[in-house]
Amino acid sequence: MSNESAVGAGSNGLIYNDAVVRNFAIMTVVWGIVGMLVGVIIAAQLIWPDLTYGIPFLSYGRLRPLHTNAVIFAFGGSALFASSYYCVQRTCQARLFGGSLAAFTFWGWQLVIVLAAITLPMGMTSAKEYAELEWPIDVLIAVVWIAYAVVFLGTLARRKVKHIYVANWFFAAYIITIAVLHVVNSAEIPVTLTKSYSAYAGTVDAMVQWWYGHNAVGFFLTAGFLGMVYYFVPKQAGRPVYSYRLSIVHFWALISVYMWAGPHHLHYTTLPDWAQSLGMVFSLLLLAPSWGGMINGIMTLSGAWHKLRTDPILKFMIVSLSFYGMSTFEGPMMSIKTVNALSHYTDWTIGHVHSGALGWVAMISIGCIYSLIPRLYGRSGMWSTRLIDWHFWTTTIGIVLYIAAMWIAGVMQGLMWRATNPDGTLTYTFVQALAATHPYYIVRFIGGLLVLSGMFLMLYNVRRTIAGERADSLTPLAA
Ligand code: HEM
Ligand code: HEM
Repeated sequence: MSNESAVGAGSNGLIYNDAVVRNFAIMTVVWGIVGMLVGVIIAAQLIWPDLTYGIPFLSYGRLRPLHTNAVIFAFGGSALFASSYYCVQRTCQARLFGGSLAAFTFWGWQLVIVLAAITLPMGMTSAKEYAELEWPIDVLIAVVWIAYAVVFLGTLARRKVKHIYVANWFFAAYIITIAVLHVVNSAEIPVTLTKSYSAYAGTVDAMVQWWYGHNAVGFFLTAGFLGMVYYFVPKQAGRPVYSYRLSIVHFWALISVYMWAGPHHLHYTTLPDWAQSLGMVFSLLLLAPSWGGMINGIMTLSGAWHKLRTDPILKFMIVSLSFYGMSTFEGPMMSIKTVNALSHYTDWTIGHVHSGALGWVAMISIGCIYSLIPRLYGRSGMWSTRLIDWHFWTTTIGIVLYIAAMWIAGVMQGLMWRATNPDGTLTYTFVQALAATHPYYIVRFIGGLLVLSGMFLMLYNVRRTIAGERADSLTPLAA
């Protein structure tokens, strides 16, 4: 990992702390490869269940949480740290607050990830989805996250400009909310160093978990990435944000509505019916602020659409926003109870997850890192534009294969499971539905392989760019 250099000098002669940004940017690529590789392995296990010879630490049940933790917190998290630290310094005209505290957040976060990669395959888990890590790691996460909040909010406080740029509103909301969610949902009673039990019981436990789970989607997987959109899309397009007013309206609407939508994960459970309906109504409302963000991002390209022809980085960003629009249309539909009766437990949910997680989150992160790397290393652009274009197409085709396969499989499963004969018996056995799903799992696996191969192209391109080489001179680096 490189040391600080004058590359990060601001127009006012200030030297920004870009060492930490560089470290997080590189780790985004590394963890992206690791997390997606594990995703491809578990996709393969669903086709060939004996793939890992019954070895416990390679079993599906242990690798699946490893995949989700690696892609969300290691890959997505590193992209968020890198982009928020970069953006807050430039838009506040201030160096990161807290001296070596920023470096602490980098090493602390990497330690969390490494501990997750060790403990999850060993089968240590709190059994709460997206919050599986055991209590000592939870404590470490809380410490690192509070340090992150101090660095970020401290930098905002020492800003040299009066107004707070909209991207920072989104980053700040994501940092503060994740701190609250993590601390409340991880309240647990330790029994040993590696085992704890939730402080909540029964339905309350489920409700707290999905209040956390849904807001992890809303704030970790959405608000922070909208911060990225508001800084990097205008930068890359060389255009101002389409509507500043819309950015403020959809910010307040988004953060106030997301909080109430969690019960849509608990339809037809012991949760009181009114709470389920409340979750459904708020999920439907969520369509509006989500699309406000999507429209604002896409319309920022007004007058610059022609750039899409030559700039694959911009293509990553715009296609990502389109997937954001798609998944935030699909989500509210799936929250309608009668629709959820069909979609729940099926691969439709997995299709929805990856149209959000791969289409939106991964594509915007990739675009942002491509935009950042040359700036961070003082290069005029990425080593190869053509390779970025290849990456764009492998990713886009891979994602379409993945989610289309899961949509078809999901609806088919839902219909097969509910089909009954005139005498009331089930038309299909579970195994028949599973056998019918098999071809779609193969298509998903191929899609995943394509996405993963693109990440290797990215790694190679990033390496050559850092080495200071240039294969062509086409990647536009907007001011
Ligand atoms: C090469 C790319 C990827 C592949 C092949 C892949 C594959 C998979 C597979 C096979 C599952 C388990 C599905 C099941 O249990 O039926 C899964 C779950 C999941 N993946 Fe991925 N994945 C990829 C990328 C990502 C990325 C980039 C993210 C997030 C940023 C992500 C987030 C998730 C989440 C949240 C789940 C759990 C979904 C749920 O419980 O409903 N994945 N993935
Ligand atoms: C307006 C926005 C959205 C709404 C209303 C929404 C709604 C839903 C609904 C109804 C489910 C199915 C719950 C179930 O049957 O168990 C779901 C699952 C999920 N959604 Fe969304 N969604 C939205 C956006 C997104 C986005 C943008 C992402 C990713 C970046 C995402 C990630 C997920 C994940 C990871 C799950 C699976 C949770 C699990 O069971 O493990 N959602 N969502």
